[in-house]
Amino acid sequence: MRRILTSALTVLIAAAMPAAAHAQLPQIPRLPASSSADIQGEINHRLEDARAQVEDFSSQAFPHTAPGKKAPAAPAPKKPQPRNNGGVDCANCVAITYDDGPGAETNRLLDKLKAKNAHASFMVLAPNAYQHPELLKRMKAEGHTIGNHTKSHRQLNTLSYDQVSQEIDAGNAAIKKATGQGTRWVRPPYGATNATVDQATRDKGVSQALWDVDTVDWKDRNSDHVCSAAVQGARAGSIVLMHDIHPTTVDAADCVIDGLRAKGLEPVSLDRLLRTPVAGKRYYARG
Ligand code: NI
Repeated sequence: MRRILTSALTVLIAAAMPAAAHAQLPQIPRLPASSSADIQGEINHRLEDARAQVEDFSSQAFPHTAPGKKAPAAPAPKKPQPRNNGGVDCANCVAITYDDGPGAETNRLLDKLKAKNAHASFMVLAPNAYQHPELLKRMKAEGHTIGNHTKSHRQLNTLSYDQVSQEIDAGNAAIKKATGQGTRWVRPPYGATNATVDQATRDKGVSQALWDVDTVDWKDRNSDHVCSAAVQGARAGSIVLMHDIHPTTVDAADCVIDGLRAKGLEPVSLDRLLRTPVAGKRYYARG
């Protein structure tokens, strides 16, 4: 009886509805939360990459164009890349990276990089970023990569997922406040990472910037040693670790850049060395 009534009702409803409205919509599979985050992270990366390429192109075509201006609509014929871009495929590129700032020495380092037409990456601590937003703005304007060195410089591999997330979020918020843009790089303090950090960075769509060349500049406050450690250790694709809070490290910058170039290597930003980093992945070098 019940079935008959239901069938009768269905027929009545079907008759009352236009055919189009009666047609079933295709089922859209619902993605699990982690896949959505992955996809969002990937989208963000690709957007950032496209933006970086537009900026690269724009700065080559119009060297004096202010950042943020629109790139020309029609691409110009390809010209040989200037040396500071490290060649078309960046085969000879090295990322020189500076942690723990920005601080009192950072402006002097930025002056040196500018004078040499070299690019670097700055892994900033959130409190320092809030204290020196003008330095982050300058880094961004001059083509350097800004990375997240967390809020309180704790060993992330000793923390819970939520604590790691908070450290990352706070660092990103500080960078975004200063520059209007987030970052795709996190540098775990002390290089201390584990599966929890992998997961948290993956969920947030950021990658882990570690290193293959440690200059030990924080301990060895000697510019010559810093320079020789950086230059002798580096190969194409290397990520070199230094700290822009030490005057001796900043003093070494000219020697590092000249020494790398004498080896046929070109110091570039991380965003240039690794254009499409995978969220959550640990990068010790390229390749
Ligand atoms: Ni550090």
